[in-house]
Amino acid sequence: MSFKSTTRTVKHLHLSKKIGGDHGMSRGWRTSLLFFLLLMSSLLGRHPLRAEGASQAATSILYDAQTRVFRISAADVSYIFGINERQQLQSIYWGQRLPDSDPIAAARAAGGSSSFDLPVNATQQEYVAWGGGLYVTPDVKISFADGNRDLVLQYASHQIVGNHLSIMLKDVQRAVFVTLSYTVDAETGIIARNARVENRTDAALTVEEMNAATWSLPAATDYQLDQLTGKWAGEWNLQRQPLHPGKTMMESRRGSTGDEINPWFALERGAAQGEQSNDVWFGALGWSGSWQIAVEQDYAHQVRITGGYDAFDFAYRLAPGESLQSPVFYAGFAQHGTGEASRLLHHYELHTLAPQHEHWRTRPVLYNSWEATGFDVDQAGQEALAEKAASIGVERFVIDDGWFGQRNNDHAGLGDWYVNPKKFPRGLKPLIDKVHSLHMDFGLWVEPEMVNADSDLYRAHPDWVLNFPGRPRTEGRNQMVLNLARPDVRAYLYGVLDHLLATYDIAFLKWDYNRNWSEPGWPAAAPEDAKKVYVAYVQNLYGILGQLRAAHPGVEVESCSGGGARVDLGIVQLTDEVWPSDNTDPFDRLAIQNGFSYAYAPGLMMAWVTDSPNWVNGRSTSLSYRFLSSMQGSLGIGANLNHWSADDFQTAKNLIAQYKQIRQTVQQGSLYRLIEPNADSPYVVTESVAPNRQQAVVFAFLHSSQQGLAYPPVYLRGLDPSVNYRLKVLDGSLNDSAPASASGAFWMHYGLHFNLRGDYQAAALLLEKEGVQ
Ligand code: DGJ
Repeated sequence: MSFKSTTRTVKHLHLSKKIGGDHGMSRGWRTSLLFFLLLMSSLLGRHPLRAEGASQAATSILYDAQTRVFRISAADVSYIFGINERQQLQSIYWGQRLPDSDPIAAARAAGGSSSFDLPVNATQQEYVAWGGGLYVTPDVKISFADGNRDLVLQYASHQIVGNHLSIMLKDVQRAVFVTLSYTVDAETGIIARNARVENRTDAALTVEEMNAATWSLPAATDYQLDQLTGKWAGEWNLQRQPLHPGKTMMESRRGSTGDEINPWFALERGAAQGEQSNDVWFGALGWSGSWQIAVEQDYAHQVRITGGYDAFDFAYRLAPGESLQSPVFYAGFAQHGTGEASRLLHHYELHTLAPQHEHWRTRPVLYNSWEATGFDVDQAGQEALAEKAASIGVERFVIDDGWFGQRNNDHAGLGDWYVNPKKFPRGLKPLIDKVHSLHMDFGLWVEPEMVNADSDLYRAHPDWVLNFPGRPRTEGRNQMVLNLARPDVRAYLYGVLDHLLATYDIAFLKWDYNRNWSEPGWPAAAPEDAKKVYVAYVQNLYGILGQLRAAHPGVEVESCSGGGARVDLGIVQLTDEVWPSDNTDPFDRLAIQNGFSYAYAPGLMMAWVTDSPNWVNGRSTSLSYRFLSSMQGSLGIGANLNHWSADDFQTAKNLIAQYKQIRQTVQQGSLYRLIEPNADSPYVVTESVAPNRQQAVVFAFLHSSQQGLAYPPVYLRGLDPSVNYRLKVLDGSLNDSAPASASGAFWMHYGLHFNLRGDYQAAALLLEKEGVQ
């Protein structure tokens, strides 16, 4: 069966007239770019994304020179803003798509309500600098060498090319320019925004705050703010709270994304639980360093969401002629609740952002022995596990921590990326050959950015770690963070990894990162440039990943950070999957995976089946329950296969074979959270529907039967109501009354009746369109 969509939609990209400066792009170049964009957009037609009344209307970016209004329209979304009489860019509308023929009045700056509320604060600007009496979070704040700290940005010029709009702003007096960039996605209406500040004055200046964008929402008193919070082994907790006037600051000061809070938000308007029905504005930052998202509601109940580099401890000096680019802040709108918002983001991640977005490869079933053997890896042990893994249908065999240097525990060896000669006397090649002979590819764990004090690397280069000279260096998991902002560290790490990939036939790197920053000093830099570490470190991380991918195009990468502490829209553009949590307890995972799915696609999420009782909670569950929990993402096995019975192998073999039939739908399909994990309810159900709606997969879980109550009826979604779907039970059972085949309408309205009783029970079902082979 093929899931590849055969529809081809030609989208019309408008080249609107430009006014003002042309940003230096030649006409010939623009014509080629336009031609390229038109060609690409005609080739990339995909399946209808929004199940509920989706339109695949044309994408357009229009500018009305009379009203000075910009109108970005794509999929079901319109985003409208204008240039007001003060030459400020002022937001006007963001939501359900409006016909281009609807009149939109010119933007008019708001007046302040009293002498305490200056108009600049009441006007919802697209991008506002600190100056002129601003009290809300500024998008950019600058200190000049002469002591001036006031910056007031006004519209200067703009340019529209295909689905891209750039607007140049300039300070009212000084030669400080900010270029705003908007790129809209034709299929989801998601807009990618960033900003670049340029110093064209003749003296150095310091950027003290730099955000990508401000997104504005109209005044309302019924917004709910959704956030994803957590901790190590407890990531991805969904928090829903009413929004009140005041400021909610989401940030990471940790040097990396962090797991305490993820750089994602959703603002819902409507019901308390809006999975299907609310208007939802959502967004996420593409940045893997310290970040901030400020959500502010003013006294008039208007909302602003501003995000970019974390302003805490931030300073970036720009010499004359230099510029600083912000991260990208992505945001979208959904009119059918948080469920649709997630599906739009998932689609965008897989089809626009992912490194393999043009030919997205189904994730292979993976084996990793970390939970089984820890640091105790050697050739004989890994070969024995590889044989067992291959026998159940595993496709990728990965060695985790412990294969290199003097790495027998977490006190030593990090930084010494040579194969441990005692554990692998003839290097990794014999093991890799063995893995290949078993028809699996080979993966390797690395943690390049870290070093143990007890390592040859640290002994040779103690100055390579983040530190303030003469001050103590705080360790976390007995390791320190290498200062990747340094060009020599970057070059060294690239060399080490490139050498490994060139020496061995490696298909996959699990790239780990097991602590946050402390003492973020960069002694080798001039004091006034030392805080550039927050930007330069991450740029070099992205640079290394990009360079490695270019040099070794077949290699895939997993982003792991002691679990899910480095998952964001920046890292997902350079890695193929992420590890959401070290917590592999299959029941805890239901909530973790549910929270994860609000922001990130199941196809990006690695999920292991591990041993029972699980090490996190001591909870015992059946092997099938563990499998069904993990089969909702990219399936991995992390159990100790040396302890499995013949029955376990048979169960695993059957379920892996089933998974291979459904994985494309699970990984790439539309996810419906039919019953979400909730402390007050023992039920959890997810459904994934293939892009062409030929297949749907349902997973149902029961925590514990109570009072003899039957499992509640489950109503499917997203099916084609008018065609018949054949039912196949993959695991668990339904009531006897379930028909072998029925219409999509039947499964969506009459529903499914699971026969689940007891504790930690689970079932999986497959529905396939009749007549499809
Ligand atoms: C943390 C990761 O999350 C684990 O899966 C494992 O790779 C260990 N690090 C290895 O040290």
